[in-house]
Amino acid sequence: MAVTAIVGCQWGDEGKGKIVDLLSEPADIVARYQGGPNAGHTVVHEGEETILHQIPSGILHPNVICLLGSGSVIDPRILFEEIEQLESRGVKVKGRLFISHKAHLIMPYHRAIDEAAEHAAGKSRIGTTGRGIGPAYTDKYQRCGIRIVDLLDRDHLEKKLRANLADKNKLLRDYYKSSELDVNRIVDEYIDFDRKADPYIKDVSVFLDDAIAEGKNVLLEGAQGTLLDVDHGTYPFVTSSNPSAGAAATGLGIGPRRITHVVGVLKAYTTRVGNGPFPTELDEPLQSQFRKWGGEYGATTGRARRCGWLDLVIGRYSARINGLDSWAITKLDVLSQLDEIHVCTSYKYKGREVRHFPAEPWVLDEVQPVYETLPGWKEDISDVRHYDDLPASCRSYLDFIKDQTGVPIGLISVGAERGAYIPLSDEVLGLA
Ligand code: GDP
Ligand code: IMO
Ligand code: MG
Repeated sequence: MAVTAIVGCQWGDEGKGKIVDLLSEPADIVARYQGGPNAGHTVVHEGEETILHQIPSGILHPNVICLLGSGSVIDPRILFEEIEQLESRGVKVKGRLFISHKAHLIMPYHRAIDEAAEHAAGKSRIGTTGRGIGPAYTDKYQRCGIRIVDLLDRDHLEKKLRANLADKNKLLRDYYKSSELDVNRIVDEYIDFDRKADPYIKDVSVFLDDAIAEGKNVLLEGAQGTLLDVDHGTYPFVTSSNPSAGAAATGLGIGPRRITHVVGVLKAYTTRVGNGPFPTELDEPLQSQFRKWGGEYGATTGRARRCGWLDLVIGRYSARINGLDSWAITKLDVLSQLDEIHVCTSYKYKGREVRHFPAEPWVLDEVQPVYETLPGWKEDISDVRHYDDLPASCRSYLDFIKDQTGVPIGLISVGAERGAYIPLSDEVLGLA
């Protein structure tokens, strides 16, 4: 029995979808604990690409049950669209996907406010995905959010919706000078969701706790990444939830001691989409070359991702914040073109060495990365399936990551396809 959390350890898009899909093979349950359709998790199997925004990345394995915990935020429009798309391709979702009755809903006004706020912020905008994530979590903490349980009583839902819409329309009209939303249309649309949502609603906490007690294998899927965590990321250029492992228990309603393993997903270099500090960001023309080699365009918004060298100040930081047992290193194949590879091991700020990831935005904006230069391998490794068959300098790169972070490597991904990986240790992945 294992309960393994899989968390992003940079600024998202580390390849969590690929790793979760891969590790879903022996799993009974895959559960997402935070975030919403701001996520874009890519799974490639037999040449077919599936991008999941809301549904956990275990859904392509027919025997896996997928859960969305109370810590996640659900946009019913996007969710039902995703369900329909999967079902039309023969992937059975009904009966295999369950949503916590305590999860909050993303409403049309959240999207409208997200867009209006970003527009009003001008140059200092965060560069959100525009999915209404921040406003939905704001309402949750403001204690006026609409939850899945609210869909169970029409009169109650309509009353809450009308009250919220009156407030939000005032905000949109008077503050953001933006257009108001049609109250009756939204009330009708969301009352219709109550019928559609019924078969998917569950007490996820009870279901998951019972399953763990029965010895089921469970994966807890993080969205976004540690550097986008609202507590531990590059605030304010973060998302509005906690992608780090500590939130997995809260976001699903299980005790923290139920989690047996934590796997950190680390891309062999760094990317970021949206604004905010990025110490190892590359200059041109290498920035564009990395983007091309790695296909670094957002899975949700299609935006070009910013690219940089691997940053092990961030690696050590994420190892600590998440209490990692092991790394899943992804996209190592993308580095095969390089003669030499730089890895950041510390920063310099005003002449002093900085080894711990700083919280001050003005420090982060000015730190100079200190690099070690390692030899490249200049060899296609995408068909390698055994560690010993990797070129020596590639193995040295992996050893360097392990030594600098103090975290062993559990698996290495060398391509987007499900089968393109090199297992190193089943034990640290919770599969032994
Ligand atoms: P996520 O948000 O963490 O799930 O990551 P995304 O799906 O947004 O972005 C990762 C991208 O890299 C996707 O296009 C994947 O198909 C692709 N990918 C994942 N692992 C690998 C790998 O090891 N090598 C290569 N070349 N591509 C990969
Ligand atoms: P996955 O799960 C990469 C970024 C946005 C923006 C910031 C806030 O695919 O790794 P939000 O819409 O959440 O309010 O945006 O967070 N962001 C992501 N970046 N991958 C993601 O998800 C992201 N989800 C949000 O670009 O900078
Ligand atoms: Mg993504």
